[in-house]
Amino acid sequence: MALAAVTSALSAVQPYLSKLIIDDGLLGRNFDLLAELCAAIVALAACGFALGAVNRLLYVRVSGKILFAIREDVYAHILQLPPQFFRVRPVGDIVTRLDGDVAEIQRFSTDSVLAVVNGVLLLVFSAAIMAVMSPELTLVAACILPLHLFLRHRARRHVSESTREVRESRGVITHFLVETLGAAKAVQSAGAERWERERLGDLNQGLLRRVIRQQLVGYTLGALSSLLSHLTTAIVFIIGGWEVIHGSLTVGTLVAFTAYLARGTGSATSLMGLYTGYQRAGVSLKRVQELRDAEPMRARRGGVRVLAARSGPIRFEDVRFRYPDSERDLLENLTLNIAAGSKVVLFGESGVGKSTLVDLLRGFAQPSSGRIVLDDVDLADYDLQSVRRRIPVLETDPALFRASIFDNIRYGYFDAPAERVRDMGRKAGVEAFALSLPQGYATELGSRGVGLSTGQRQRIAVARALLSSPFALVLDEATSNLDVAAVHAMHDLIDQHLGARTRIVITHSPATVPRADRVLELRDGRIVERERVRAYA
Ligand SMILES: Nc1ncnc2c1ncn2[C@@H]1O[C@H](COP(=O)(O)OP(=O)(O)OP(=O)(O)O)[C@@H](O)[C@H]1O
Ligand SMILES: [Mg+2]
Repeated sequence: MALAAVTSALSAVQPYLSKLIIDDGLLGRNFDLLAELCAAIVALAACGFALGAVNRLLYVRVSGKILFAIREDVYAHILQLPPQFFRVRPVGDIVTRLDGDVAEIQRFSTDSVLAVVNGVLLLVFSAAIMAVMSPELTLVAACILPLHLFLRHRARRHVSESTREVRESRGVITHFLVETLGAAKAVQSAGAERWERERLGDLNQGLLRRVIRQQLVGYTLGALSSLLSHLTTAIVFIIGGWEVIHGSLTVGTLVAFTAYLARGTGSATSLMGLYTGYQRAGVSLKRVQELRDAEPMRARRGGVRVLAARSGPIRFEDVRFRYPDSERDLLENLTLNIAAGSKVVLFGESGVGKSTLVDLLRGFAQPSSGRIVLDDVDLADYDLQSVRRRIPVLETDPALFRASIFDNIRYGYFDAPAERVRDMGRKAGVEAFALSLPQGYATELGSRGVGLSTGQRQRIAVARALLSSPFALVLDEATSNLDVAAVHAMHDLIDQHLGARTRIVITHSPATVPRADRVLELRDGRIVERERVRAYA
């Protein structure tokens, strides 16, 4: 701020020097003074540039830090949000806010806040010098100012609205790209390439219309402002010129006055332009704030207990659950006891609530009444993170990250000793294929585990689960992509290494699960005990 003040003061002196050059140097026929004044102009300008550079550097660094902090803070917050949030909010929308909107805020704050300080100071300096040189001309110029303000005020709603519309359109397009490119194979399988391309075309058209509207609003505002500025200059020349012709004002003063006027109105216009920028950044700030305002997941009571690294009994006591936007209970007075170390098969019609049951068990959703008890302690008394880490879920399509096979195994357990990670890899059968790859365990996987078969990816997920010393392991249709032999191989593997741990196997074909202790059906929101099916020897 101090540097900006000095820079503005330096640049405000310049026109006054030109007044001295004209009145005392030229008209006063004093060449030495003229030369000195010219040297002073150059020296002041050089100082101004140097200070400006230092100031800009400092400013960008500080504002960059602040803005990256915003992005990291919002990102960290989003990672704490419940599945519900991601269900209703397309990922493209989140990306646009985190990327485009945060960048918009950054652009505004880096470019504009400094410009505001400079603009205000320059305006104040110019106005002060102008008032000293010619109070009546200053008054004339000041009369136009309210017109400017009125204009900006009238445009306010259009600016915010057009900006919000553009941002939303961008969000929709990002989501479209994320969704269709993420499922490129499905698009190709359906032969829908042309359809999708046309859809993108339509979305682009919509965006273009909105961008044009936004540009028109901005252009009209700028044009009207500059028209008002020209009007002011013309009036000042007419009145000031009349005074010069009649000898009540010096030529130098009129020249310097118009230079100050140009600076003053220039900074007034750019300040008002910044006001428009401020409104745009405000729209972005609001969009980012919306993400920040979403409620993170919390246990009903913030527990601190850590779930044991060995199995214990699991009890659902009279659990009732409904999704916030649903009209009926999905689970009703559900009661279920699972003994420590047993292997339980759970089946039931699609959509009956099996995966929801697992979400409840892992604290991704809270029962509306009743309670869940792990190891004789209410789930709400546990630290949620320990519950999720100790109850891993194997799903149909395990989440693998763009990292080495090694890091994918120890994901979430980054401080596990390398020997243990490799040991789990060996037990889960990862080693068998990893060592045949060019870089072994260090081989980088594509973002979605490209290059590995479903079975191989499952093995990495199993190795990760083994590494977690689970309290219980859940297989949520984990094997539905595998053939019968692979299903059995998977169960052999799990039962061999996790035979003493509780295993909950959710499947649509209970008959294919070997060595199950119990078979349960979820039906109409309750658990029904079924006969054990002996599918094979
Ligand atoms: N976050 C959510 N908000 C609202 N409703 C949801 C949510 N998640 C799931 N549902 C609904 O709850 C019901 C149960 O879903 P759930 O995924 O638990 O079924 P499921 O038994 O696992 O089915 P499937 O065998 O197909 O995997 C479904 O009707 C589903 O549409
Ligand atoms: Mg499911």
